[in-house]
Amino acid sequence: MMKDVVLGIESSCDETSASICLDGKVINNIIATQSIHEQYGGVVPELASRAHQQHIVPVVHKACQDAEIDLSDVTAIACTQGPGLLGSLLVGYSFSKSLSYALDVPMINVHHMKAHILAHFIDDPKPTFPFLCLTVSGGHTQIVKVKSHIEMEVLGETIDDAVGEAFDKGAKLLGLPYPGGPLVDKLAAKGDATKYNFTKSKVTNLDFSFSGVKTSLLYFLRDQLATDVTFIENHRNDLCASYQHVLIEMLTEKLLKASNKENIKRIAIAGGVSANMGLRERLLDLAKNYNWELFIPDFQYCTDNAGMIAISGYYQLIHNLHADLKDAPNPRMPF
Ligand code: KG4
Ligand code: ZN
Repeated sequence: MMKDVVLGIESSCDETSASICLDGKVINNIIATQSIHEQYGGVVPELASRAHQQHIVPVVHKACQDAEIDLSDVTAIACTQGPGLLGSLLVGYSFSKSLSYALDVPMINVHHMKAHILAHFIDDPKPTFPFLCLTVSGGHTQIVKVKSHIEMEVLGETIDDAVGEAFDKGAKLLGLPYPGGPLVDKLAAKGDATKYNFTKSKVTNLDFSFSGVKTSLLYFLRDQLATDVTFIENHRNDLCASYQHVLIEMLTEKLLKASNKENIKRIAIAGGVSANMGLRERLLDLAKNYNWELFIPDFQYCTDNAGMIAISGYYQLIHNLHADLKDAPNPRMPF
């Protein structure tokens, strides 16, 4: 007999997702991706919100059907409360709140970035505490000291753009469609990372800054295009490889510094940019050199997904951390 049947719901940006977690085991992860934003070069909040409204019921239905459970079997509903786009969050959150009221089961507020970290508890091997997690997404870049499933401390974070944003903005300058991060990754694999040098930011503590490197790419391209309009087309792979290289160096230098400072050799990565092959390879090298125990999530749990929301909900549920009926989505939810 199952004790905890958690329905996880994610709608913070442009993926509508639902997942069922049975007694701490995530058994599915249904995702509806919104392709409508591609033609606009970025997520259009109003369109995202409308697409969530269209997808939420079928996605939840499919998650339950696939898990062979009835909605009445659900014992808790975990939903992303923030951070994210307000209109997008509102769809998942209102749906979850109504369902928790109708089914008379607790609702659980999940922090989207903490959930990216807890995605490491979906599959084996699971990290033991404490460990350090580099969380890299379209909205965040942080180094987090993870002390338990609930207690986490931010050691450093970006003071301007997130690294995913730096990938996407750089990709746009290189004439690639949105979301550019995965395309930069793909083209970088065919290019020479030592061909061009872009300026690294010089933030001294464990914080990051990515706006300067993007500007460095912008000015470099402007100067080259002044004399050769075909410069980008002819050197796109090398440009992607060199730009990706500097972003990865900035991330891993800080991660190494944090590992030395905290004397922690259990290292994890999380968030959309953790799908990046260049970053994964660099981390594998560092793990070998510095004796790190490295945790890299499965691709399906790198980008936004409800599996990570369901597992977070499960751990909060067993700690009795229920939401209040007065709670609302919070686009700037503090960590
Ligand atoms: O975590 P996520 O799915 O959504 C947010 O919470 O932001 O992260 C999305 C970000 C985007 O900036 C996307 O370009 C980036 O992750 N991304 C990648 C790769 N896959 C996704 N960046 C670089 N290389 C990739 N393979
Ligand atoms: Zn995310």
